Amino acid sequence: MDDKSSTGAIGVFDSGYGGLTVLEGIRAALPHYDYIYLGDNARAPYGVRSFGIVYRFTLEAVQYLFSMGCPLVILGCNTASAKALRSIQQNDLPLMSDPSRRVLGVIRPTVEKLGQISRSGHIGVFGTPGTVASHSYDMEISKLYPDFTATGHACPMWVPLVENRESMSDGADYFVKQEIDRLFADDPLIDTVILGCTHYPLLLDKIRKYLPAGVSLVLQGEITGASLADYLRRHPEMECRITRNASCRYLTTESASRFSEMASVFLSTQVDAEHITLG
Ligand code: DGL
Repeated sequence: MDDKSSTGAIGVFDSGYGGLTVLEGIRAALPHYDYIYLGDNARAPYGVRSFGIVYRFTLEAVQYLFSMGCPLVILGCNTASAKALRSIQQNDLPLMSDPSRRVLGVIRPTVEKLGQISRSGHIGVFGTPGTVASHSYDMEISKLYPDFTATGHACPMWVPLVENRESMSDGADYFVKQEIDRLFADDPLIDTVILGCTHYPLLLDKIRKYLPAGVSLVLQGEITGASLADYLRRHPEMECRITRNASCRYLTTESASRFSEMASVFLSTQVDAEHITLG
């Protein structure tokens, strides 16, 4: 499996279920490839964990997906993209038996889109406490758009609301409105808001309800799909290593039956998950 010419599925990693929203966007854009989705549900949430722990857990997941033959792994998780991607790309990949395999994240493609959307150049970023504290979005935005102003805002209650199937409840309105009000109190000129967490699209109806009129939302599923399609066009040496049977396997570090049940909240199809162990 570890030989240089390995071919296989595209790996999509998330701390848990939320990355299924990213997987859905990728499969909509690129339906013919094979995919392996890995959710580290046993150790989620990552959003409140330290840099070192998120890095170690993410590296273990990437290595597992590589051992299953994936030549390319997408970190669907914003927290993992913020805290682990750069170290894995720069320090770990070059030392692996096949350094031609690749790991990509969701932050760069999301930020690239902003130039087409924002007029005021004032960007709001909703994310987990870990993603916001890492300042990864702010740094990427100032690199690509030095004139833009980014305001990050952590929403610690939003992931638990989704995980506990409370995203449609009246209680969710309170927490969604509260965080939106706080973000716009910090910068009333924001005209574009990034949903920088895999779970937040599940709160989309309520977020739209409380977002000031005229503010654009940036959703990652579609963007990641389009960006991956573009990447594979520009990298035929990688594209030809990805197998094409339109299949998708779902792996979880928690209970397979619970994953299969919860995945139906995120996806419109039935899922038959398999249990694996990391670490
Ligand atoms: N997947 C995480 C993210 O996109 C959210 C859930 C978590 O905290 O693990 O940041």
